[in-house]
Amino acid sequence: MSKYEKVIELAKRRGFFWPAIEIYGGVRGFLDFGPLGVRLKQSIANKWRKFFIDRHQDFIVEIETPIIMPEIVFKASGHLEHFTDYIVECRSCGRKYRADHLIEEETKLKGLEKLNAEELTKLIEKYEIRCPECGGELSEVKKFNLLFKTTIGPYSDNIGYARPETAQGMFLAFKRMYEIMRRSLPLGIAQVGKVFRNEISPRQGPIRLREFTIMELELFFDPKEPSCPLLDRVKDMRINIMRYSSEKILNVTIEEALISRIISTEWLAYFMGIGQEFVESLGIPKEKQVFVEKAPEELAHYAVQTFDQCVELSRWGLVEVAGYAYRTDYDLTRHMEYSGADLRAFKEYEKPIIKRKKIIKPKLNVIGPILKSKTKEVVARLSSLDPAYVAKELEEKGFIEIGDVRVTKDMVEIEEITVKETGRRFVPHVIEPSFGLERLVYATLEYAYTEKEGRIVLKLPPDIAPIHVAVFPLIQNRELIKRAKEIYSLLVRKGFMAIYDESGSIGKRYARADEIGIPVAITVDGKTLEDNTVTMRDRDTWNQIRVKVEEISKILSAVISGRISFKELEMKYGLVGRYARENS
Ligand code: GLY
Repeated sequence: MSKYEKVIELAKRRGFFWPAIEIYGGVRGFLDFGPLGVRLKQSIANKWRKFFIDRHQDFIVEIETPIIMPEIVFKASGHLEHFTDYIVECRSCGRKYRADHLIEEETKLKGLEKLNAEELTKLIEKYEIRCPECGGELSEVKKFNLLFKTTIGPYSDNIGYARPETAQGMFLAFKRMYEIMRRSLPLGIAQVGKVFRNEISPRQGPIRLREFTIMELELFFDPKEPSCPLLDRVKDMRINIMRYSSEKILNVTIEEALISRIISTEWLAYFMGIGQEFVESLGIPKEKQVFVEKAPEELAHYAVQTFDQCVELSRWGLVEVAGYAYRTDYDLTRHMEYSGADLRAFKEYEKPIIKRKKIIKPKLNVIGPILKSKTKEVVARLSSLDPAYVAKELEEKGFIEIGDVRVTKDMVEIEEITVKETGRRFVPHVIEPSFGLERLVYATLEYAYTEKEGRIVLKLPPDIAPIHVAVFPLIQNRELIKRAKEIYSLLVRKGFMAIYDESGSIGKRYARADEIGIPVAITVDGKTLEDNTVTMRDRDTWNQIRVKVEEISKILSAVISGRISFKELEMKYGLVGRYARENS
C-alpha cells in the first residue's frame, strides 16, 4: 500500500473522514468527517485563528456571511464570467471530462491550465485523444462554469449561487465593518466557512472537493501606504519560492524576496511568512513547503500576483494548501459599480485643501416622471457615488447604470463649486491569504503518519490532536477499573478530550491510541492503589514516567500546549519503562 492509501485506510477505519453518501455509492468530491476528523478540523481552524486573527486582534476580526448569495453578487465579482474550467464531452457515451486533465493524463504534457478552448481542442485532435471509457470521439472543448446554481425563495427567476469563496461576503460587509472598526486601515476581515465548486470530474480524494472549508482573510489597506508595520516579525524568515518563469526553487529571506521584487507587496510577504509558520506548526516542515508563483495567464481574474503555498505530498507531489493573492481594488470597485454603494475609505489630511469640484444635481422634474417610485432610491444611490466618476461616465457613455436603471445626461446637471477638502477618499487594496482546510487535514495526517515496529503511530502535534489523553487500567481488575474511571472523569471535567479503554491487552490499547495520535496514555496499576501515582506514556518514544494523580492535569496541559516536552518530563520525573511490542 502507498502512503496515501495507508492514510486513507486509517482515516476511514478510525473515523477521520471517508467518502460521503457511501450507502448510495458515493458522489465524487464530497466527504464525511467522523468524530476524530471533526475535532482535527476544528483544532486546525482554531490554530489558524491564533496565527492569522488572534495575533492581530487589534485590526483583524472574524465574521460570518451567507453561503447562498444572489446572482448580482457573482456578476459583480466576475465569477459568472470567469470561474470556469474547460470541458470536453464524448460524442458516443456522453461522459464529460475536464479537458486539461484528460489531455495531461493521455499525453503527460504539463502546464495546460494556461491554454484556451481552441488550443485544447487542437491538442485533442493532434494527439488523437478519444474517450478513455468507450473510445468514442470527443467534442470540441467548451467553458464550464463551476458555480452551483439554485433559486432563492419560490421564484424561479430569483437565481442564487453557492459561494465559491468566502471573500465576497467580506467585500459586501466592508462598508459596515469599516464603520464598526472606527474607519481605520489596515483592516482585516476573516471568515472560516464552507464553499462550493462544481468540479467537472474530481478524482483526487480529499484534495479536490466540490464542497470544502476555506479559511480566508481579506486585508484592506491604503494603496498609498502599502508598507506592513509588522514586517520585522518575519523579514529574516527563509522561504522556498518558485517563480513562474523558472522551475528553480529559490531559498530566500522574506526581506530578500521583497527587495528583489519577487514578492510585490509587503502585506503579501508578511502573510506568506505567517503562513509558513502556521503550516510548520501542523507538523509539515518548511523544507517541504514551496511558494509557487502563478503565471500571469493562470491568475484568477481578480489578482495581479498570487503565490500558491504548496506542500509535498506522497501521491501528487507539490499540492496547494493556500493561495496568497494581491486582489488590488478589483472587488470593491466592481461592487461599487454594481450596487451603487460607496465602498471607499477616508483618510484625513493634516491640513484641508481648497479645490474646485464637480457636483451632480439630479433634475427632479425630468427624473421624477420617468422613474416614478424608483426616483428616491436612484437619487440616493447617485449621490453616494463619486461625482467625478459619474461625470466621467456621463461624458464618455452618455449614461450611467444604477441597478437596472439608466440615468442619462439630460437627467442631471453637473456643476463646479469650490470646496474645502478635509481628506482623501480611495478604494482600499486587498491582500488575501486563503487556506483549504480539508487539504490541510489530509497533509497533516500524511506528515504525522509513521510506522514503528509494524504499528501505526500518528505523530500529530499535541495541540491539534483530537484526543489529548487515554486512560487505561493495566489489567481487568475491579479496583484498577474503578480508579481509572475516576481519573478519566476527572480529566473530562477539567476540559481534556479523553478516552477510557479497558478492552484487550494493554499493548493493543496503546497501539489503538497511538494510531489516532493521542499524545499521552495514562495507566492505572497496582502501585496506583498504594501511592496514588500513575504511569504516563509518550506516544512517540513509548517512554514512561510515573507521576502523582494530582499532577496529571498540570502536566497534560503543559504537554498539549507545547510548554514542555516529554524529554524534559523524563529528566524531571525519571524514566520508569518503555512499552513496546513485546508487551502487547
Ligand atoms: N478566495 C480564494 C479562492 O477563490 O481561491
